[in-house]
Amino acid sequence: MRDHALESPGTVMNPMLARPVTIKKVTWETDDTFTLQFDLGELGESYSFRPGQFNMLYVFGVGESAISISSDATKSKNLMHTVRRVGVVTSALSQLKRGDTIGLRGPFGSFWPLDPAIGKDVIVAAGGIGLAPLRPLLYSLFRKRKSFGRIILLYGARSPLDLLYRVELEEWGKKENVEVLVTVDRGDSSWKGYVGVVTGLMSYLKLDARATIAYVCGPETMMRYTVDELEQRGLAEHQIYLSMERNMKCAVGFCGHCQYGPTFVCKDGPVFILPQVRELLERKEL
Ligand SMILES: Cc1cc2nc3c(=O)[nH]c(=O)nc-3n(C[C@H](O)[C@H](O)[C@H](O)COP(=O)(O)OP(=O)(O)OC[C@H]3O[C@@H](n4cnc5c(N)ncnc54)[C@H](O)[C@@H]3O)c2cc1C
Ligand code: FES
Repeated sequence: MRDHALESPGTVMNPMLARPVTIKKVTWETDDTFTLQFDLGELGESYSFRPGQFNMLYVFGVGESAISISSDATKSKNLMHTVRRVGVVTSALSQLKRGDTIGLRGPFGSFWPLDPAIGKDVIVAAGGIGLAPLRPLLYSLFRKRKSFGRIILLYGARSPLDLLYRVELEEWGKKENVEVLVTVDRGDSSWKGYVGVVTGLMSYLKLDARATIAYVCGPETMMRYTVDELEQRGLAEHQIYLSMERNMKCAVGFCGHCQYGPTFVCKDGPVFILPQVRELLERKEL
């Protein structure tokens, strides 16, 4: 993976230059997933992002990974990323402690658009780590609560121990006109909730399909089945938004690593409206 020079805060922003940020807090959400909270230092004065965008996180001497921003967009200084440890860079990120410094480039990419959902019911469907890029969207929806109808979160994880943001899930479910339905692939003796895939949760919902907007993020198989189910329930393709997390390198449309036809997942996405990526969704990783 390519190394990146560090840019001092205050110099002209170059999207290829990582800027140093310090880790303020590490919270382990599950056995393999953790949330890093950053002190942005001087960068914090100018930094802002939209729900659904991502940063490139660079561990010195190891490499860089695209990681979605998982915190509240109105609190840019309190920037958070929730990371699942899967390979080289994410394992290096998992070793970091409070006070350590990494490089950050971003924010990059498109974001979850809120306007199409105004006056409508909203489905937020998340699978696994896919809840991380949807959490800033949820904060924005809750903040403008009166602008929307029902807010329905459908969330699936592998097991009860793999559920992210457990305390928040409970709090969200207590909000007015917010429904939180959680399912796991495999329950355990303490689990009293649903068992099965996220799409199964939809059978418990009565939807007003013409007045519903859906935001979906998760493994691509989960997104395919969720899209199928939403369409069967009567949602049209312009009512469905997805985040495509394909492999990336430059994140700014230079290297072509994430290119599919005329589409660059890094700069045209990661958030797309379904008609833009229906074909891409059918294809395996680029
Ligand atoms: C826009 C975007 C947002 C993302 N947001 C998050 C997030 O919020 N949290 C999070 O934990 N991860 C997120 N990812 C995925 C993350 O970028 C990869 O898990 C990470 O780059 C893997 O790097 P690694 O060096 O640890 O793994 P590697 O050593 O490179 O690979 C380990 C395994 O992971 C697979 N892999 C590598 N990169 C990806 C990828 N991009 N997508 C799917 N599989 C991959 C490899 O095929 C291999 O099987 C996001 C990816 C994109 C493109
Ligand atoms: S990651 Fe380089 S073009 Fe998208």
